[in-house]
Amino acid sequence: METLSTGRVADTLARLFAEAELADRPLMERFAEVEIDDAFFAQQIALEQNDLRGVYHGYAENFLNVAPEYGRFLYQCARAGRATRIVEFGTSMGVSAIYLAAALRDMGGGQLVGSEIEPAKAERARANLASAGLAEFVDIRVGDARETLLDVGGPIDMVLLDGAFSLYLPILKLLEPHLTSGAVILAENAFDHGNDYLDYVRDPTHGYLSQPIPVSEGRGNEYSVFVR
Ligand SMILES: C[S@@+](CC[C@H](N)C(=O)[O-])C[C@H]1O[C@@H](n2cnc3c(N)ncnc32)[C@H](O)[C@@H]1O
Repeated sequence: METLSTGRVADTLARLFAEAELADRPLMERFAEVEIDDAFFAQQIALEQNDLRGVYHGYAENFLNVAPEYGRFLYQCARAGRATRIVEFGTSMGVSAIYLAAALRDMGGGQLVGSEIEPAKAERARANLASAGLAEFVDIRVGDARETLLDVGGPIDMVLLDGAFSLYLPILKLLEPHLTSGAVILAENAFDHGNDYLDYVRDPTHGYLSQPIPVSEGRGNEYSVFVR
């Protein structure tokens, strides 16, 4: 069974991509003018370290969502790995969560543990998951993922890292003791600029095999498999 292409999942995704295009267009136009280089990352990380909640509160109306081809890839990864527990760092309005929860439902069940620091976004994500008919497969936790993901309830088959840039490595290390062998970790915006996350997952002594992938090119997508 595959429910991405029909019914409530397809209708909800189509609506959300249209809403996201409108909500995020001015921001994307601003980003398009910025060079994503070491200086950009250094500035972003300094801003997050100074006021993480404030930075993301500034994006409260923005979706910042994955593209449809990346969403389909998330769905494929979950299905290929027969995931039953998936953890998402950075749920926003729930676009990526819909792809992941649809994969769980289409395989017979499971749980997506999402995390979102901005309460209004978590509320909208829950409503969007409900509109897609997927509410029962998702537990969206409100607050800083460093706290809300401390206990995810059992072994983890797949992780999507798509929250604050500066926290990818701390969140991975938080989840690492619970990763199953063969767990897939996908990181969006993992750019190769003095990035401690990439240094970590690309060093095989840490237990991962990792490489960038050409899905949604230009968005810094890293694909890692936990091989311990
Ligand atoms: C790029 S967006 C996520 C997009 C989402 N995965 C999708 O495709 O629809 C990043 C989100 O991470 C959230 N975030 C940032 N830092 C966080 C933290 N420490 N804990 C939980 N959520 C966080 C932001 O508020 C923002 O909504």
